[in-house]
Formats: sequence, structure tokens, C-alpha cells
Amino acid sequence: MKFFIDTANLGDIAEAQALGVLDGVTTNPSLMAKEGITGAENILAHYQKICDLVDGDVSAEVISTDFEGMVEEGEKLAALHPQIVVKLPLIADGIKACKYFSDKGIRTNVTLVFSAGQALLAAKAGATYVSPFIGRLDDISTDGLNLIAEIRQIYDNYAFDTQILAASVRHTMHVIDCAKLGSDVMTGPLSSIKGLLKHPLTDSGLAKFLEDYKKGN
Ligand code: G3P
Repeated sequence: MKFFIDTANLGDIAEAQALGVLDGVTTNPSLMAKEGITGAENILAHYQKICDLVDGDVSAEVISTDFEGMVEEGEKLAALHPQIVVKLPLIADGIKACKYFSDKGIRTNVTLVFSAGQALLAAKAGATYVSPFIGRLDDISTDGLNLIAEIRQIYDNYAFDTQILAASVRHTMHVIDCAKLGSDVMTGPLSSIKGLLKHPLTDSGLAKFLEDYKKGN
């Protein structure tokens, strides 16, 4: 399973990259705003910085909600760097734009996916990635992980190439459950990746090994 980090924070991206397990980055307008990155030119410059930090795919989201606007924005984003994946919302024009980019060989990430039917549409339109938001479904007492299982079954039934990118991952159990269900990718905060390191028996075991080593030397 690929690990993406879901942030526009350069420090967090650099820390995950240094750990050696990072496969890419996802961002969205809210994450950009959280880092104080505003205005089209600043946002493009920030994507460039992210691409310089990591080796993998970097999802960059369009703001337009009409087909023409999405195409214009997406082409500008894709031209910025070969690592950029154009992120499009799952609305009718987003699906049309996904098909347009897919036919041109430009990679896409269809976002704001909350149902299996929406994921089926994204795959039909040739999306590279589909982003079901599992945490936001959990927030409204709906099983987000069940959506991952449904999409996995549908994509496997028809051998769709679209990769399932579990988004709105909030914690380590989401990461582990997504891996069990066969999600191709997960994107979450740095804490969801670093949390996988933690086990008290690792800490106490290492402390004992070091203590015993000191006794013998
Ligand atoms: O990138 C979109 C998604 O990951 C948002 O996550 O935590 O705001 O629901 P969250």
C-alpha cells in the first residue's frame, strides 16, 4: 500500500520523506489555507516546493466547478511539474474533466467521494486515483471502511485500473484497516504514519537490550 501524506505543511512532508516510507502528497484548498498559502501564484509556488521535497505523486486540486475552468486550471497544474496529479471534485463537470485529462494521458485524482456509485463513475471516466473520505463518513455515523470494501469489490470485478486512495484517514487504525481491505493508497496526517511505530513492548524490549549490553561491557 502506498503512503501519501495529507498536508501542505512542508515540515511534516520533509519529516515523512526522511522516514523513507513516503510515496506522495495530497493537498486540498483547506490544507493550503491552513498553512496560510493564498492566491493562485503562491499556491503554484507551494506545489513546486512540495514536488522538490518528495519523489512521488502530488495531488493539486482545482478550484473551478465548471468543465472549461477545470480544464484550464488542470492543464496549468499538470504543466507545473511531472509529479502533479490533477485533483477534481466528483461532480458532473469533474467527471467530464476527468475523462478529458485521462484521454490526454494526464493523471487525475477524483475527490470528495462518499459512495460506491461515485467511485464507479470515476473509474469509468479513467481516474488514476479515487479518493473516498472515510473519516468524514465515520463522522456522520456511517462506516467509512465499508465504502473501501465496496469499491475494492467493484474495481476487482471489472479489473479497473483506478487506484483506491483512502482519504480523510485520521489515525493508525484507519491505516491498518485500509491495508487489510486492499486499499491501494492511504493519505493521512503525519501522526497516522508515525503512530504505526508505537508499541510499548518495543520500547521496553529495547531498553532491556541496552541495559544488558551495558552489564556485559
Ligand atoms: O484530502 C482530503 C481529506 O483527506 C480530508 O480529510 O480529515 O479533513 O476529513 P479530513
